[in-house]
Amino acid sequence: MKLWGARFEKEADKRLNDFNSSINIDSRMYEEDIDGSTAHAQMLCAQGIISEKDLDDIVKNLSDIKNEIANGTLIIDENAEDIHMFIEEELTKRCGDAGKRLHTARSRNDQVALDTRMYTIKRLGSIKDLLKDFIKILCNKAQKHVYSIMPGYTHLQPAQPITFAHHLMAYVQMFIRDISRLDDAQKRCSVMPLGSGALAATTHNIDREFVKERLGFLQISQNSLDGVSDRDFVIEAASALSIIMVHLSRFSEEIILWSSREFNFIELDDAFATGSSIMPQKKNPDICELIRGKSGRVFGNLQGLLCMMKGLPLAYNKDMQEDKEALFDCFDTVCACLKAAAPMLESMKVLEDNMNSAAAEGFINATDCADYLVKKGIPFREAYRIVGQLVKYCIKNSKVLETLDIDEYKAASPYFDADIYKAVSLIECVNNRNVTGGPAPDEVKRQIDFAISCCQSF
Ligand code: ARG
Repeated sequence: MKLWGARFEKEADKRLNDFNSSINIDSRMYEEDIDGSTAHAQMLCAQGIISEKDLDDIVKNLSDIKNEIANGTLIIDENAEDIHMFIEEELTKRCGDAGKRLHTARSRNDQVALDTRMYTIKRLGSIKDLLKDFIKILCNKAQKHVYSIMPGYTHLQPAQPITFAHHLMAYVQMFIRDISRLDDAQKRCSVMPLGSGALAATTHNIDREFVKERLGFLQISQNSLDGVSDRDFVIEAASALSIIMVHLSRFSEEIILWSSREFNFIELDDAFATGSSIMPQKKNPDICELIRGKSGRVFGNLQGLLCMMKGLPLAYNKDMQEDKEALFDCFDTVCACLKAAAPMLESMKVLEDNMNSAAAEGFINATDCADYLVKKGIPFREAYRIVGQLVKYCIKNSKVLETLDIDEYKAASPYFDADIYKAVSLIECVNNRNVTGGPAPDEVKRQIDFAISCCQSF
C-alpha cells in the first residue's frame, strides 16, 4: 500500500502510477534527500521529538542506503512514486518504527523544496568551476595573441583593427558576468525551507536554525507558504544558464565562421572536428553547431518553467514536479557544452597570417586616417568626408590607404604629411587604442591579469 493510501478504498491504477511517478527524474537527488533527512532526524532528536535510539537507526540506515545506491547494490525501484518515498520506504523496511518517525514535522512539499535547493546549489557550483576553467583557456590563448591583428567587425563588415586576444577577452567578460550571476543565484537559493511543512508549518517544537546550520544554508525561509511554493531559484538558475548558452552560442557561431574557408582564421584540431559521409574533403565544426543548437533547448526549459509557474495558486501544486526535468536538463546541457568547448578551444590553431591579411584588405584603418586629420585640427565630420572620398578613390584605383602616394594624399587634403603612413599602419592603429578596454597589446595584457584575479574572487 502507498504511504498515503490509508484513506483510499482502491489501489492506485498503474496508469496513474506511471504518469504520476517522478522517480526517473528525481532519483539523482538521492544524496540530497538523505543528507536532508539525516539533518532533520538529528534535529528531531535534539528537540526530544524522537529518541537517541531512533536517531541512531535512522542515521545508520540512511547512510547504508546512500552507500548502496552509490555502489549500485541498492537498485532504485522505477515503480516508486519519487525518490523521497523510495528512501522513506526503504528506511522503514530496514528499521521499522524509527523509519516511520522520520517524517514527523515534515511534508514532501518542504522536503522536495529542500532537496532541489541543495542540488541546485551544488550544480551551480560545478558550472562555476567549469566556467573558470574555460576562462583560463581563453586567457591563455589570448596571452599568445596580443599582437595578432585581426579585423574587428560590425554588421559582419570589416570595421576597425583589433587583435585576436582582444576578441577572446570580450568573451571572458561575458563569462565572468555569468559566474557572478551563478554566484548570486547560489546565494538566493541558499534558503532552508524545511519546517514549512505541507504549507502551514508545524505544531511540533522544531529547530529550523539547527537544520540550516547542519546543511550549510545561509538563511531559513520566512514564510511557510512561500517556502513550499517558491521556484524562483529554479527559474533563476535556468535563466543564468540560458545567458551562458547565449554566450557559448555566439562564440560557437564565430568559430564556425572563422573556420570557414572564406574566413580561414582558425583551424580546428582534427580530434575536435568531424567529417562527412559523402564529401571526402569536409571538416566540420560539429561541436560548435551542437552548442549553438543546444542553446535552444536551455531557453526552452526556461520558457517552460516560467509558463509552468505563472498560473499556480499557493501553495504546492503537482505541476511543480515538472521543474526538475527542465532544471536538470539545463545543468546537463551547459555542463556538456562547456566540457566539449574547452578542449576544442584549447587545441584549435590560430591562423594569424590569414587574420593579418584580412585586416589589410578592408580599409579598417579609415577611422585612424580620419583621426590623423582631426589631430591636425580638421573637424571630425570634415575629416570623415575627406577619408570617405579617399576610400572611394582607392576602390576605383585598386589601392588601399597604405599604398596611396603622398601626392594622392595631398590632393585629398594638404594636411596629410609623410607621417600618415605610420598612422595607418595596422600595428600602430592597434597600439594607439590604449584606453582602458582597448585592443592595444599592453592594455589587453592588463585585461587578462584583471580577468584572472576576478575569477579568483568567486
Ligand atoms: N515528486 C514531487 C515533486 O517533485 C514531490 C512532492 C510531492 N508532494 C505532494 N504533495 N504530492 O514535486
